[in-house]
Formats: sequence, structure tokens, C-alpha cells
Amino acid sequence: MRIDIISVVPELLESPLNQSILRRAQEKGLVEIVVHNLHDYAHDKRKTTDDYPFGGEAGMVMKCEPVFELIEKLQSERDYDEIIFTSPDGITYDQHEANRLSTLGNIIILCGHYKGIDFRIREHLITREISIGDYVLTGGELAAAIITDSVVRLIPGAIGDEESALTDCFQDDLLAPPVYTRPADFRGWKVPDVLLSGNFAEIEKWKETQAYERTKQLRPDLLEKLE
Ligand code: ADE
Repeated sequence: MRIDIISVVPELLESPLNQSILRRAQEKGLVEIVVHNLHDYAHDKRKTTDDYPFGGEAGMVMKCEPVFELIEKLQSERDYDEIIFTSPDGITYDQHEANRLSTLGNIIILCGHYKGIDFRIREHLITREISIGDYVLTGGELAAAIITDSVVRLIPGAIGDEESALTDCFQDDLLAPPVYTRPADFRGWKVPDVLLSGNFAEIEKWKETQAYERTKQLRPDLLEKLE
């Protein structure tokens, strides 16, 4: 898989994309993540990527020319399955969308900035607009990092025990059951007996019940969706 991320503040993406599982997935050749500085595609002296809005609104707007030039250059080099724009207007990101994106070959993520982007970019280039929640960020970089992180960990081989991505919280629209490690007794707080029993059928049953009960208590909306 290849993920191209377009940003006016690429420094914001450096650390989140180059640690831990994401770094190892790139080293193993499972994913290629390329961050582009949009300023490199602005041809005036000041490398301007934004301009004043027509109609006198407050704030600046991301210009068409650098975005079209860069995306069309990328498209001339390979096919892209999705060109994503990170924006509070988009569909709300969830595990289903992460699963879908993880099965794609090449994607572009354009990080929104300023007051917004020229609407012609959204009309003629963007195929998907994604919001990570109903709140406004300074820019789309953190949203792009979240999308990339959640997608890359689903690529087979990205995490050691492949099964653990399949048993993630939300994979079956349920929260994950509690987990414990040693010691079995910490300050008198004991790990549930069933987990020490070695009876795997019972352990599975316990996990399923716990996942259901925790979801009912903490996120009843997920159960409503299931029904
Ligand atoms: N850019 C600004 N706010 C955002 C959000 N909530 N999701 C995605 N991109 C954004």
C-alpha cells in the first residue's frame, strides 16, 4: 500500500508516522508513506498556498493551483483508489472506514488548512471527505496521522500477532473485554479466576459476555446500530 499525504506543515507528521508500528511497517515494506510539502508546488517567491476568499469571508483559502499540480503529478505516476480530504464536514471516521481503506492500494490524503480549500478542489479531485469527530482542529495533519495509523496497523504483518487487529475493540462493533497481566493479585485486587483456569472455552465465553456488558454500559449506541 502507498499513502501520499499532502500538507502545508509536514513537520507535524514527522514523529507520528515514524515511530513504533508505523515505522516498522515501512521498514518491512508493507506500506510506503510519502509526505509532500505543498509549498514546493507554489511557484511565486513566497511559496504561497493560500489566498483571500472571494466574497469577503474571514480567513484564508487553500489555492487550486499547487494542489492540482501535485495531485495530477501523482496521478500520472500511479492510479489512486481514493483521494481523501480531511475536514470537519466529512463522514465521521470509524473502524469500518479504516478496514475499507486498509484494503486499498494507493491513497492520497490532503490535509485541510486555513479557512478551507477552494471548492473546485473538492468538486474535481477529492473522492472522500473524512472528519475524525465533531470538533475543529487547526489543520488536517493530526486527522491524517490518525487515519494513517489506524489503517496501517490493519495491514497483514504490521502487528506481530495478526489476530490482535481482528480482535480489536470495535472490530465487531463491541468494546474490547478487560485484559490483565501479572501479578494475578495486586494489592488484593485479583484477576478473574476464569482467566487463570486454562479452560479456553470458558475464557472465550467470559470475554464475549464482558465485551457485551461493557458496550451496553459505556456505548449503548453501538448495540443499537447492531440491532
Ligand atoms: N480539520 C479540522 N477539523 C477536522 C476534523 N474534525 N476532522 C478532520 N479534519 C479536520
